[in-house]
Amino acid sequence: MKTVAAFLLVLCYLAGSHAWNCREGPRLSSIRQIDAGLGKVVAVNRYNQAFVLLGTSWYRLSSISLKHISVGPAGMWGASNTNRVYKSVAGNMLQSSGLSLQQVDAGGDGQVVGVSVGGSNTLCLRESFALAYKGVGSLSWSSLGRAMRYYSCSPNNGCWGVDTSFRVYFTQRIVPSNCGTSGWIYVAGQSMTMIEVGTDGSVFGVNRSGQVFQRIGISSRLPQGSAWRSVPMCMSIRHVSYDLGRLWAVTTSGLLMQCTH
Ligand SMILES: *[C@@H]1O[C@H](CO)[C@@H](O)[C@H](O)[C@H]1NC(C)=O
Repeated sequence: MKTVAAFLLVLCYLAGSHAWNCREGPRLSSIRQIDAGLGKVVAVNRYNQAFVLLGTSWYRLSSISLKHISVGPAGMWGASNTNRVYKSVAGNMLQSSGLSLQQVDAGGDGQVVGVSVGGSNTLCLRESFALAYKGVGSLSWSSLGRAMRYYSCSPNNGCWGVDTSFRVYFTQRIVPSNCGTSGWIYVAGQSMTMIEVGTDGSVFGVNRSGQVFQRIGISSRLPQGSAWRSVPMCMSIRHVSYDLGRLWAVTTSGLLMQCTH
């Protein structure tokens, strides 16, 4: 398996891509999900072990089993394989009581967003609650009133999500102090399994065939952008994240690609 993967990587380099230059990233065996934000990079493998990248090595974050992890202005948050929500406090992932969530995102303007189990609702944790939470007691989430299976926020460029039918939605603004939203815009064109918006507002998604796309044409006049541009990768991709000029792509075979423009 390793040999096959290495061979595929060589083909990858040869295939190249017009816009993005990809190479293998620091190896984390059976990586499943990655999140890059505020210069930090965290990831989860298929055994629900969470890691942080320091230099070119991955270090185990905690002994807690996590299936999704996120780092951003709201801190470091994760969802366990039993859908419990965790926050990093003084270097430990501490469990909160409150709602069960299958995915949480800390990339917003201080608020944390998440989706409930099965994608039945989208939730938001106010900035004041998110920042102050010390790992004791229950968290009080506000409903955003939309069924989503994946949701990701940026500080100044809104939030992007996909619903259980893989349709894409964009919210221009979530007010961090009260979780009020500007409503949802349906984004036609490509169905996605996941979407991540970076701290600078760059948006990347993966479709059901494992193809990666970047949203182009984003401007203050058209904050949802105008089109999807394919980011060619020679392997099927499971998950992507973008921060500070680096696009991280996790292949369905459990390899990590690191791409620069
Ligand atoms: C994913 O994108 C590729 C490239 O545009 C396309 O050929 C494929 O049909 C898409 N898959 C789905 C399920 O939409």
